[in-house]
Amino acid sequence: MQVLIRANYDEMSKEAAGYVSSEMRKKVKFVLGLATGSTPLGLYKELIRMHKEEGLDFSNVTTFNLDEYYGLSPTHEQSYSYFMWENLFKHVNIKKENVHIPDGLAKDVDKFCEEYEHMIEEAGGIDLQVLGIGSDGHIAFNEPISSLGSRTRLKTLTEETIKDNARFFKDESEVPRYAITMGVGTVFEARKTVLLASGAKKAEVVAKAIEGSVTASITASALQLHRDTIVVLDEEAAGKLKRKEYYKYVDKMVKEFNK
Ligand code: F6R
Repeated sequence: MQVLIRANYDEMSKEAAGYVSSEMRKKVKFVLGLATGSTPLGLYKELIRMHKEEGLDFSNVTTFNLDEYYGLSPTHEQSYSYFMWENLFKHVNIKKENVHIPDGLAKDVDKFCEEYEHMIEEAGGIDLQVLGIGSDGHIAFNEPISSLGSRTRLKTLTEETIKDNARFFKDESEVPRYAITMGVGTVFEARKTVLLASGAKKAEVVAKAIEGSVTASITASALQLHRDTIVVLDEEAAGKLKRKEYYKYVDKMVKEFNK
């Protein structure tokens, strides 16, 4: 795991965009795993800029989103499908048929989840998965005590997640109680993962996920076992890391080594 600490949200987003775009340019056909929420908005903004100003090409990119609220149609303004089209897809040259987001209206949920896993496999697996972290330590919607081997399935959201996400809805009662989400095991199979976190509110859970024990109580901690994970934080989110200065030193040494 490499931990990169940047001065603020903008720098964090630019760092992540630099990483994602350089990985995208390495492969003709690239499979990109995506997250929603507030954290990756700056990353998506920067990828759009790179597409418009630097020719970053999405025509051979296939995407898989981590999750979708269960019960929301793709046209609902708070659905993750709507979010992705508004904040990334409609601004770049991605092919509609290459976009995959769990179906929040799936009738046979188990069958849908199995198919979603199959589609990822058929696409050749995820090359790079973008992740955020919930204040209860979740990655995707793998809430505390989700199996670290879990696959795509329906999850019941915690009260904490419902409260956190109420900011996007008119009222807390409107926040869906379930989501279809990739499992920790699904995320773990991505060849590379990049976890982003910003702001003081995330500092405690970030420290637990990176420096605490690997535990299903904080599913992001499973990334400690992943073979190729980069964590990009802003100073505030890095605020409670015990070895912060060491991570900065490593970052500097890696750059020097690669000169
Ligand atoms: C979203 C997702 C979630 C979020 C997490 C952080 O697709 O999978 O795990 O990444 O809840 O959300 P924000 O970025 O809004 O703090």
